[in-house]
Amino acid sequence: MSQVTVVGLGPMGSKMAETFLAAGHEVAVWNRTASKAEPLLAKGARRANTAADGDLLVVSQISYQAMYDSLGDARLDGKVVVNLSSDTPGELRRAAEWVAGRGGTLITGGIMVPPPAIGLPMAYTFYSGPEDVVDQHRGTLEALSKVTYVGPDQGLAMMFYQAQLLIFWSSLTSHMHAMAMLRTAGVSPLEFAPFAQESFTQLGGDGPMGFVKSLAEEFAAGVYPGELNSLHMQAVGIGHAVEALAEAGVETTVPEALKRLFERADAEGRGHEGLGTVIESIRKP
Ligand SMILES: NC(=O)c1ccc[n+]([C@@H]2O[C@H](COP(=O)([O-])OP(=O)(O)OC[C@H]3O[C@@H](n4cnc5c(N)ncnc54)[C@H](OP(=O)(O)O)[C@@H]3O)[C@@H](O)[C@H]2O)c1
Repeated sequence: MSQVTVVGLGPMGSKMAETFLAAGHEVAVWNRTASKAEPLLAKGARRANTAADGDLLVVSQISYQAMYDSLGDARLDGKVVVNLSSDTPGELRRAAEWVAGRGGTLITGGIMVPPPAIGLPMAYTFYSGPEDVVDQHRGTLEALSKVTYVGPDQGLAMMFYQAQLLIFWSSLTSHMHAMAMLRTAGVSPLEFAPFAQESFTQLGGDGPMGFVKSLAEEFAAGVYPGELNSLHMQAVGIGHAVEALAEAGVETTVPEALKRLFERADAEGRGHEGLGTVIESIRKP
């Protein structure tokens, strides 16, 4: 079993520490607000003297600035810092240099589950940084989730993480618009839920509605067939959806932004292509 220091005891870090303990690891914990360590000390964790106390530091904080603030001027010679906090890919690359400048190695990660799912079979984390160092600590990190290694560029784990969050936030916000609009006509969110579930399932499947996969194939090929459902038709259709929201008296910021994006692709002369052609407008703001 390994020794691991968990730095940051918000909902995520606390669950991580608890999960490492349950897996039989020796766990030290550190948090800016020291009192948050108490429940973990009661479960068998040790209080770390500083945030840099340990050879394997697993960090989960609000941002990378919190790591700089927590580690301060500490030397990190020979230490491995695995940071699972959110920030930008550029900041993660700068952080890799910051850690290396103090003698340590930074592994970055984007953990794809909320606290209750940490340690469950469904959990996975995108990791990037030197592969041999990830492999060296794979056994310990697997207590938290599957280890999904995406490459040596320390910014990459965060880009994968944010790619998933963009899908998560935008699709679920559309679900909220849909429910809010239907509610104005007296439709219960629970009555609509099975239809929304069906959409999410089919979009991720392999059938004729399997757009997640077919859009990836179209983007890879750079060809967006639109004979059966042209972008122009959909640009008009989303205009109707925005009007429907306005008629219902609910807010329209995000759907209006989508409408503008579709209309721009149409105005750029690609209305005869399929929905996938919108990605060419996204690539060139
Ligand atoms: N919660 C989720 O479902 C989820 C899922 C995936 C990924 N994440 C990511 O995981 C990370 C942690 O999330 P979280 O939900 O546990 O809580 P959070 O609110 O993002 O972070 C709380 C932690 O950050 C520390 N912190 C904030 N500013 C600090 C500073 N300047 N110096 C030192 N420590 C500082 C807090 O210390 P104090 O206790 O002293 O305030 C606390 O330990 C975030 O980056 C989040 O985006 C969260």
